[in-house]
Order: sequence, then structure tokens, then C-alpha cells
Amino acid sequence: MILVTGGAGFIGSHTCLKLLEGGYEVVVVDNLSNSHTESLERVKKITGKDLAFVKADCCDEKAMDEVFSKYNIDGVIHFAGLKAVGESVQKPLEYFSNNLNSSLVLLRVMKAHGVKRLVFSSSATVYSADNTMPLNEECKTGNCTNPYGWTKYMSEQIFRAACVADPSLTVVLLRYFNPVGAHPSGLIGEDPKGIPNNLMPYVSQVAVGKREYLTVFGDDYDTEDGTGVRDYIHVEDLARAHLCAVSYSEKSEPGCEVFNIGTGKGSSVLDIVKAFEKASGRKVPYKIGPRRAGDLATVYAGTEKAEKVLGFKTEYNLEQMCRDAWNWQSKNPDGYNK
Ligand code: NAD
Ligand code: UD1
Repeated sequence: MILVTGGAGFIGSHTCLKLLEGGYEVVVVDNLSNSHTESLERVKKITGKDLAFVKADCCDEKAMDEVFSKYNIDGVIHFAGLKAVGESVQKPLEYFSNNLNSSLVLLRVMKAHGVKRLVFSSSATVYSADNTMPLNEECKTGNCTNPYGWTKYMSEQIFRAACVADPSLTVVLLRYFNPVGAHPSGLIGEDPKGIPNNLMPYVSQVAVGKREYLTVFGDDYDTEDGTGVRDYIHVEDLARAHLCAVSYSEKSEPGCEVFNIGTGKGSSVLDIVKAFEKASGRKVPYKIGPRRAGDLATVYAGTEKAEKVLGFKTEYNLEQMCRDAWNWQSKNPDGYNK
């Protein structure tokens, strides 16, 4: 059985679906601080399969110990965490406390119960700003520009150190680029609270009429059209990457390995606007605003290692990402609040 922490969230729910489809048994632990159990109800509906759910905080060692005692867990995928970059600047202690303690508690409880395999949600944000593209796993990390980024950087260090201390432990660190889109059914998707920080959910809300226009954060970057370029990856592909990571961890030598999970292709903000307009048949009005602090001109992944070692290659293109994001947004204009 796989324990999925944060499994009710955006990436977690899509991954639970893929795990169930792949024949795995799943137990989700989530404190629902940024999600609804409705996402899991819909996962069950799509797959016709059941999963176990425990409402608990991953920093609560006693609760986690009970989960490991009750279920026969052979591996963990650790999604649980706070992820809003701006909020992490306002509330750094909450971010360090939640994101680091959850990793520490998991490692302790895994050790106590003899569980040896873990896949961790890291982020491209751990790379320093002074690398050249594409980013490969050997590129420089650190110099993070916000507490959220540091929590991912520090968690990576914690997992590496734990693997050195326990040579029977396997940890797979996945550095996600920009996850977007939704399950093609339109039943599960991204449900951000309040004003979305990220581009794709913001564009979706403009297209559906919830927000008047998009502010493009700068059009004077050294890119083809002057707007920021990122590596957007369909959440369906990303979810599948976790299955590749789980099966890799089942057969690899123990130790800590890191993989970029992206498409290797960059798209600009205006590429996204155009692709979304095409997919939705709606206008996405935008205004050019100033640059956002901490943003880089261009970020995209080197994908060779994930292809060679995990056997993972993305399948979805930008058009499909926008089509599925729109399908979810238009069917669920208020997310899981219906
Ligand atoms: P999400 O907020 O939708 O999912 C995270 C889930 O974790 C939520 O359901 C939340 O309720 C839960 N959670 C948070 N703290 C918890 C705790 N202490 N105990 C139990 N549950 C807790 O976010 P997501 O987009 O699905 O991201 C999943 C993971 O991937 C996060 O660790 C995030 O930092 C990382 N990540 C996300 C992105 C992205 O763009 N979405 C990019 C890189 C990395
Ligand atoms: C952001 C975070 C990063 C985090 C990632 C998660 C910052 C500085 N970086 O990355 O740490 O890991 O989300 O997915 O917050 N844009 C607009 N208008 C908007 C929103 C975004 O023009 O309203 C632009 C941005 O300037 C950027 C691109 O769209 O060029 C993508 O932005 P976003 O979706 O926030 O992702 P990242 O900046 O890559």
C-alpha cells in the first residue's frame, strides 16, 4: 500500500487516480488545509476503486504513527506542504515549520515501521538564478528567493542526509517545473483559494469571467516576445511520473536520486494566453504590468535523466493542457465548492 500525504490536493489527487489505475492500494493523509475530500470522492468515481483517507496533520507524529500501524505501507509519496510563494514571505515560520517538520516526522515514523521508500515533491525553484538553460540535475541549487523555496531546498538536504545515515533507504526527489491542466474528465483539477498566484489558474478564471483581465508581469525580458518563459507540464504527465518514480524505487539500489520533471520546452505568457483562447473559444484580456520580484526570464527543464533512468517522457502538449484546464474550469467555475 502507498501512503500519499497531501493526496487530496491538486497533484496528489491526480496521482492517487493513477496509482489506483495502476493497481496500487492507497491511503491518503491530508489535513485539508488547502483541499476538499470531494477531490478524493471524484477520484473514486472516475476509477470505480476505493482508497483510504485519514484526516491528520503530517507534523502530528502520534497520528502518523497510528496510520503506519493501521495500514500495511510499503512506500510513501510526500506531497503535503504549503506552497504559496508570496504567503511564505509573510508567514515564514509557518512554512518552515509545516514543510520541514512534516518531512522529519515522516522519516522518523518510516524508520520506526521499517518503511524504506519515499518520493518527495521538490521544485525547480531550488535552482539558483545564475544557471544556463536547460536546467539539469547537476545545476547549482540554493540562493532561493523566498522561504517556500528554502523549505524545498532544506527538505532535499534532510532526505539526502537521512539516506547517508541509513544505507537501506531510497528517496526519489522530483523537481517539478510548472504543473497545469486537469484530468480530461473535468472532474478533478486545481482549486486555488482566493486570487491565484500562478499563471494558468489566473488565465482560466479570466476566461470564465471571474476576473476581468490578466496582468502580464513584464514584457521586457530577453525572450522572443518579452514575456516570461516557463516549462508547463500537464498534471496527468506529472502524476504518471510518480508511478515511474515508485516503480524505480522498488528496483533501484537504495540512496537518494533527484530528477527534473518537465517537458523540456518553454512557453511564454503570451503563448499561454493564445493557446488558452484557442482551447476555450473565449477572449483572455490582458494588460502589461511591471515585473514580479524574484521572476526569471526563462526556465525550462533538461529531461534526459528522467527519460533514461525513470523511463519517463511527457505526452501532452500545450493545447491539451489548456483544453483540460478549461474543461475543469468551465465545468467547476467555483472549484469543489460547486
Ligand atoms: P496542494 O495545496 O493542492 O496540495 C497539498 C496538499 O497538502 C493539500 O491537500 C493540503 O491540504 C495538504 N497539506 C499541507 N500541509 C499538510 C500537513 N501538514 N499535513 C497534512 N496535509 C497537509 O498543492 P499541489 O499543487 O498539489 O502541490 C503538491 C506538492 O508539490 C507540494 O509539496 C508543493 O510544494 C509541490 N510543488 C507544487 C508545484 C505546483 O506548481 N503546484 C510546483 C512544485 C512543487
Ligand atoms: C512560481 C514560483 C515558484 C513555484 C512555482 C510553482 C514565484 C517567483 N515563483 O513559479 O517558486 O515553484 O510558481 O508552480 O512566485 N505571470 C503573469 N501574470 C500572473 C501570473 C504569472 O504574467 O498573474 C507570469 C510570471 O511572471 C511567469 C509565468 O507567468 O513568467 C509563470 O508564473 P507562475 O505560474 O507563477 O510560475 P513560476 O513563476 O514559474
